[in-house]
Amino acid sequence: MNSLSPVEVAHRFIRSLIRKGDLCIDATVGNGHDTIFLAEQVGEKGKVLGFDVQSSAIESTRTALVKNQLAARVQLFELGHETLGAELSEEEKGCLKLVVFNLGYLPGSDKSVVTQSQSTQQALEQSLVNLQPDGAISLVAYRGHAGGNAECAAVEAWVDQLPADSYFCLRYERWTHQRGLTPVFFWIQRRDNDIA
Ligand SMILES: C[S@@+](CC[C@H](N)C(=O)[O-])C[C@H]1O[C@@H](n2cnc3c(N)ncnc32)[C@H](O)[C@@H]1O
Repeated sequence: MNSLSPVEVAHRFIRSLIRKGDLCIDATVGNGHDTIFLAEQVGEKGKVLGFDVQSSAIESTRTALVKNQLAARVQLFELGHETLGAELSEEEKGCLKLVVFNLGYLPGSDKSVVTQSQSTQQALEQSLVNLQPDGAISLVAYRGHAGGNAECAAVEAWVDQLPADSYFCLRYERWTHQRGLTPVFFWIQRRDNDIA
């Protein structure tokens, strides 16, 4: 097997989970690659909510969605993901199939706008309590930039305290010559009625 990147592994997990009609969140919209991927997976009856603090990210993603005829199934918020719980309607609460995080800064953009451990954890908490019974969180953390390693460690500590009989969790990283600096993929899935 070829050396799969954490994002490629994340997309394999996501593809196997999502069904047409699902409700998903892209918690870090950026250039919109994950937003478009999710919008394709959920189909025309599904819905994707996207969050980013940068207006340029929201606008370029909006343009890309229109170009790909996917805009009708996506709602974009120029807001931090730490507010996502408050933006869910009563019908959407507890119905999330998937929340996707791609942490760090937007490549080719302002590197000072970067995700932060505290707001990431707030968003993770709000995501977790709004997952549907087999819902999941997919997260890729980058460790090469200032603060990235600490944020990844904070995510790992947060995942580590989740009860193992309630959540199926895994961590994937490639061991290369850049050991300790490569991105890490985390998958956290509710395991209601699953085997232990
Ligand atoms: C690595 S990029 C995401 C890349 C994106 N998934 C894509 O497909 O292009 C991280 C993004 O997180 C955004 N961000 C930073 N802090 C945020 C926050 N509190 N809430 C939501 N997005 C945030 C940045 O503006 C940046 O666009």
